[in-house]
Amino acid sequence: MSDSAAVIIGAGSSIGSALCQRWQRDDAVSRVFAVSRKLEADDENNEESSIIKIHSDYTEASIYKALETIKTLMLENHLQTISRVCICNGILHNDNVWPEKRIEELTADSLLEVFTINSVTPMLWLKALITMVKSPSDCVITVFNARIGSIGDNRSGGWYSYRASKAALNMLLKTAAIEYARRAKNVKLISFHPGTTDTALSKPFQGSVKKENLFTPDYVAEHLVAIMNTQQVDGELSFIDWENKAIVW
Ligand SMILES: NC(=O)c1ccc[n+]([C@@H]2O[C@H](COP(=O)([O-])OP(=O)(O)OC[C@H]3O[C@@H](n4cnc5c(N)ncnc54)[C@H](OP(=O)(O)O)[C@@H]3O)[C@@H](O)[C@H]2O)c1
Repeated sequence: MSDSAAVIIGAGSSIGSALCQRWQRDDAVSRVFAVSRKLEADDENNEESSIIKIHSDYTEASIYKALETIKTLMLENHLQTISRVCICNGILHNDNVWPEKRIEELTADSLLEVFTINSVTPMLWLKALITMVKSPSDCVITVFNARIGSIGDNRSGGWYSYRASKAALNMLLKTAAIEYARRAKNVKLISFHPGTTDTALSKPFQGSVKKENLFTPDYVAEHLVAIMNTQQVDGELSFIDWENKAIVW
């Protein structure tokens, strides 16, 4: 049995949940720490399962508390390293936010809310993780992005806040990759586009998507795990899709 763990942040996402299930069946990973807002602090963990649920409301204090809990549980379970991290958080719409078709629909509040969840939250995790993932063994960290966050690929416009928050995420990740390459040389960072996947996020916009182009969360999880298994630690940020193809910045 391996002595390494996977950490899935935003594990309440459909793709995050599929990743938890996928790694639960994988001998390369002994424990899966599934972090989500959706869990209550007293949510029961099933002792038979290798998935351990951890609550976080994504404030900085709660991020550090969640990581302290993971550290303690790793010690108790004789786990040496974190070899895989996925940060899945991202919204396109919620009760307050809807993707803008016209510039008049932009509001400061919705821009700030989308940036907070899509760009700031992943960075707070990367900030808190840098000392924890540093190790003699390799660790691959995937942060969920979207092709629509590509500036070079933006031909149709619209969806201002989602696009901009994901483009900003790439700049933040690129900057983090440079610092991680100095301070945590064992880490590979990936900015990942899952493809259009059948989840709550894409549900209202699936009408125009051909059936063969709409993936299941399990399909995406399978592809991402294979991609993470074959990454070389090169100190670079890779912006790639589910087929491991590079996306233009
Ligand atoms: N589905 C697609 O077609 C598609 C396409 C391109 C990119 N993506 C990206 O893939 C990632 C996963 O999305 P999904 O399709 O699996 O969507 P989903 O099922 O709707 O998951 C939403 C994710 O966002 C997090 N979240 C929601 N509200 C939040 C808040 N207020 N504060 C912090 N986190 C919050 C959730 O974390 P909790 O577990 O804490 O609830 C969860 O990780 C996202 O980053 C998305 O942008 C998806």
